[in-house]
Amino acid sequence: MAEAHLDHDLAGRVAVVTGGAGGIGSALAAHLAAAGCRVAVVDLDLGRAEETAGGLAGGPHIGLAADVGDPGGVESLVGDTERRLGLIDIYCSNAGVITGQGLGADADWEAGWRVHGMAHVHAARAVLPGMRERRFGVFVVTASAAGLLMMMQSAAYTATKHASVAIAEWLAVNYGGDGVQFHCVCPQGVLTPMVLGGSATAESELKAAGNLLEPGDVAEAVMAAIAERRFLVLPHPEVHGYEQAKVADRDRWLAGMRRLLHRVTG
Ligand SMILES: NC(=O)c1ccc[n+]([C@@H]2O[C@H](COP(=O)([O-])OP(=O)(O)OC[C@H]3O[C@@H](n4cnc5c(N)ncnc54)[C@H](O)[C@@H]3O)[C@@H](O)[C@H]2O)c1
Repeated sequence: MAEAHLDHDLAGRVAVVTGGAGGIGSALAAHLAAAGCRVAVVDLDLGRAEETAGGLAGGPHIGLAADVGDPGGVESLVGDTERRLGLIDIYCSNAGVITGQGLGADADWEAGWRVHGMAHVHAARAVLPGMRERRFGVFVVTASAAGLLMMMQSAAYTATKHASVAIAEWLAVNYGGDGVQFHCVCPQGVLTPMVLGGSATAESELKAAGNLLEPGDVAEAVMAAIAERRFLVLPHPEVHGYEQAKVADRDRWLAGMRRLLHRVTG
């Protein structure tokens, strides 16, 4: 599917994938490596990052430990990547966290704002000036369908993923064009440790919303969108219809969501 649309070659490019030792991140790293990129796999744990990097095709690839919610962590991962692999062409700001149920605790909100909000801002500050100067860059934000719609059982996940979408859109308007392209990835349920290790209620909500995809399906959709220079990546295409229904009639949409919530929580 992706090949039919390929109109620029990623071979030899340097890519960073944050949350790269996790489900969607490691699939993204594998697809970028298969396209000929040299990949820096970034995650909280160095061992997991290096193990993922070590399993990728081609190379050289590296694994790095960094907390992307920390500006110093992002600066150092960018510096390490550029020193060891070369200037960054593709940055996938993909790391994400589960942020509690219901209204959540303050710590859930803080984690969400750090990882789903500021991590993208720190990354933009660190890599966009160089990309714009070189007139080539691909900046991918992994948000969520919850950033367009809702994760009914987590206020913090919903609000902070809306922030991810807003930041990606803002960056695309301010810095898009002239060779730099932006993408915002908004899947529903994907079979990753985040979902499989999460609560049974979150899993039942995701199942009620639609099919659970494999991480590789999401990575394939991202690669196609990069090739087509298409901003919004909807691995579950039905999300487009849900979003249209939301903007067409908010009260009807909210009533439908309340019914779905009752069904999911029994
Ligand atoms: N799985 C789903 O159903 C689903 C749906 C929509 C969106 N998403 C989003 O996709 C992205 C990837 O999630 P996943 O499903 O692969 O989950 P995952 O838990 O398998 O992977 C997330 C990775 O991010 C890493 N991470 C967390 N905080 C970090 C930090 N501060 N610094 C660096 N790394 C950090 C984790 O260690 C983990 O390896 C996330 O942004 C998530 O919110 C997932």
